[in-house]
Amino acid sequence: MKLVRLSDAAEVARTAADRILGFAAQHPEGVAAFPTGRTPIPLYAELARRHAGGDASLARIRGFNLDELVLPPSDERSFRSFMERHAWGKTGLDRARCDIPDPVAGDLESECRRYEEAIAAAGGLDLAVLGIGADGHIAYNMPGPPVDPTHVVELPGALADELGVPEAARPLRALTMGLGTIGRARRLLLLATGAHKAEAVRRLRAAEPDPAWPATLLADHADLEVLLDPGAAGET
Ligand code: PGA
Repeated sequence: MKLVRLSDAAEVARTAADRILGFAAQHPEGVAAFPTGRTPIPLYAELARRHAGGDASLARIRGFNLDELVLPPSDERSFRSFMERHAWGKTGLDRARCDIPDPVAGDLESECRRYEEAIAAAGGLDLAVLGIGADGHIAYNMPGPPVDPTHVVELPGALADELGVPEAARPLRALTMGLGTIGRARRLLLLATGAHKAEAVRRLRAAEPDPAWPATLLADHADLEVLLDPGAAGET
């Protein structure tokens, strides 16, 4: 595991953008998994700035989102809406080459199978860009026995609160890649910012596989780079 301690969240975003554009320069048609959440917003903003400046290297990347909430896709809290606001088009990622689990597919189990097969048909993930939850979750692989491959998960009320999901939409479910799908990516790039991530990062760095801290199950990956701000590095 390579840990890179950066000066602040903006430098994490710039460095992650460098890595992703470097990857795309080497693999213009590479297959990459993309995250949503608060952490990657500055990353997508940085990629959008570079795209507006003429960088077209993401144009042929094949994208797969890590997860999606079971909400109507038009709901502003859906990750599809997030990607439309922050990433697709704006960063150069071509919407037509990007996939995300479809939560209105009548049968969520078949949709999980379709998604996993689409990733396999693309040749598997070359790169997975990841955030990490304060409890160590990766995508929506929550603390507890790992489930694979892409699957449906019921999210704890605290996460539904964080996402501002109304009572009527609870229990909130999500479709998520499994840790196996993610761990088979040839390269992992994990971003963590803020002191609330320090304990999860500390566990990851300790590299003792523990299903109670899902990120630790990726710690022995052959090509894992972790970009940290001082808070997530446990220095503030
Ligand atoms: P965050 O989410 O970036 O909003 O902190 C991280 C995650 O849930 O993976």
